[in-house]
Amino acid sequence: MAGILDGKSALVTGGASGIGRATALAMAREGARVAVADQSEGGAAETVAMINAAGGQSIAIGADVSDEAQIEAMVARSVAAFGRLDCAFNNAGIAPRHVGPAGQRTHEMSRQSFDRMMAINLTGVFLCMKHEIVQMLKQGGGAIVNTASVAGLVGLPTAASYVAAKHGVVGLTKTAAMEYAQEGIRVNCVNPGYIKTPMTEPGMAERYERLMTKVPMNRLGVPEEIAEAVVWMCSERASFMTGASHVVDGGYYAA
Ligand SMILES: NC(=O)c1ccc[n+]([C@@H]2O[C@H](COP(=O)([O-])OP(=O)(O)OC[C@H]3O[C@@H](n4cnc5c(N)ncnc54)[C@H](O)[C@@H]3O)[C@@H](O)[C@H]2O)c1
Repeated sequence: MAGILDGKSALVTGGASGIGRATALAMAREGARVAVADQSEGGAAETVAMINAAGGQSIAIGADVSDEAQIEAMVARSVAAFGRLDCAFNNAGIAPRHVGPAGQRTHEMSRQSFDRMMAINLTGVFLCMKHEIVQMLKQGGGAIVNTASVAGLVGLPTAASYVAAKHGVVGLTKTAAMEYAQEGIRVNCVNPGYIKTPMTEPGMAERYERLMTKVPMNRLGVPEEIAEAVVWMCSERASFMTGASHVVDGGYYAA
């Protein structure tokens, strides 16, 4: 049976783990050749091994999304390997605990911590889009999906920098969607709720009951459930969809 991404070339950042890995695997299953990028090149290589073992075609790229030269090289390598860039999933990201102590309110957060979060979760997405769009304009179109979050739509106490970055991703997505709509480039974002990945694992046992009071489905999502939405948004089946925030959250945002 034909896959919905047959013949497409894709790039996934944060592809060594969690949502990025699940999406790279799902894209390959649907027929895409996938460049798997991550700051953990070893982790990206593991994802590539999984794809190639299943009969797919994939390459690993080590790249830190906070470094523009590395992003430029990442896009160039992906195009050199597969000839074009049809689908880009800008997904690499970090959690608040990666940049500072847990539980800080806005006035307690350091400037350095805030800046680091922005560099990866917001500027990283901007820089990826910038270099991907250059390629997509050259070839006459493409589809970009950015990973935002429900935190791109609502506030979350003690996560000011994360929430600000994810709201920024939603804004970048809407603006680029408008700017390139006439040139065949669709730009959307996915807004996951609480998903079971290495990012959410620390302390989950203690937080679980409290978090689930906010989730009508009363469970965590799994990365594969985000991957399905991303693959579809990248495919021609989503041909009239651009500038959208696609919430996949077990009902969190509706409640
Ligand atoms: N897990 C959730 O509940 C959840 C909810 C909403 C949004 N998200 C978002 O989904 C995305 C993926 O998160 P995940 O849950 O799969 O986490 P994860 O920790 O499993 O995966 C994140 C990946 O990004 C990579 N990464 C981090 N910083 C990077 C950098 N500077 N350059 C390149 N790669 C880098 C990591 O090495 C890792 O492989 C993130 O943007 C996150 O904010 C996650």
